Amino acid sequence: MKILEKLRLGVNIDHVATVRNARGSEYPDPVRAAKIAEEAGADGITAHLREDRRHISDQDIERLVDMLEVPLNFEMAATEEMQKIALRHKPHAICVVPEKREERTTEGGLEVAREEKYLAHFIAPLREAGSRVSIFIAADQKQVDAASRIGAQVIELHTGAYCDLHAAGRFEERDAELKRLGEMTSYANSLGLEVHAGHGLTYACVQPIAALRELMELNIGHFLIGEAVFRGLRPAIKEMQRLMDEARAVS
Ligand code: PXP
Repeated sequence: MKILEKLRLGVNIDHVATVRNARGSEYPDPVRAAKIAEEAGADGITAHLREDRRHISDQDIERLVDMLEVPLNFEMAATEEMQKIALRHKPHAICVVPEKREERTTEGGLEVAREEKYLAHFIAPLREAGSRVSIFIAADQKQVDAASRIGAQVIELHTGAYCDLHAAGRFEERDAELKRLGEMTSYANSLGLEVHAGHGLTYACVQPIAALRELMELNIGHFLIGEAVFRGLRPAIKEMQRLMDEARAVS
């Protein structure tokens, strides 16, 4: 099978820590999950250190930095505390996300256009320290332009709305969102930005996203960790990779 440029898969292991923290135990260990994901062929591991430490802990980040062989994508809010932690660990990649205490998950993209000055200032030292900086945004040209102006190397497009519309059976709106995601992928690419995507992706909705030619990476967590309960983490990841490769196949 000939495929378009390979789409990388970053596996987000946050929700292994969610299960661990539900009982205050030491297990299941998200770092063990990360090592299994690595063996299964994940191209990177993503972990979000939230301000309230609801899943990933500071110690998890330290252990991931020590033990991973694939790149770590460190998701974080644009706060001084997180900037200090990132500058101490200098992860391969940083994805700056919006964060609200009351939300269950990252609900929307970052308002880059509104906070351009602050964010430009915020990411400059992270870039200088050698991390590749990504900004998590909605498929909105205003945000793509702003991300480019502040000096981000990468944008990650929020696929949550697309996935929710798919799950709700609202296919016309889903297809309109998919079109926006495709257009913004090409547009960002034309500005020299590397484009990633993620949030809410499942086996059922990943393929139209994976087929977007200029996309370089997907970051997927919640569904894979849930699926691992039924088929094991390695097979769950392998099936996602198979679907991604199939979607990239060209005749
Ligand atoms: N990308 C970003 C920037 C995220 O914040 C998240 C959720 O933490 C994901 C990808 C993965 O989303 P999900 O867990 O729904 O697959």
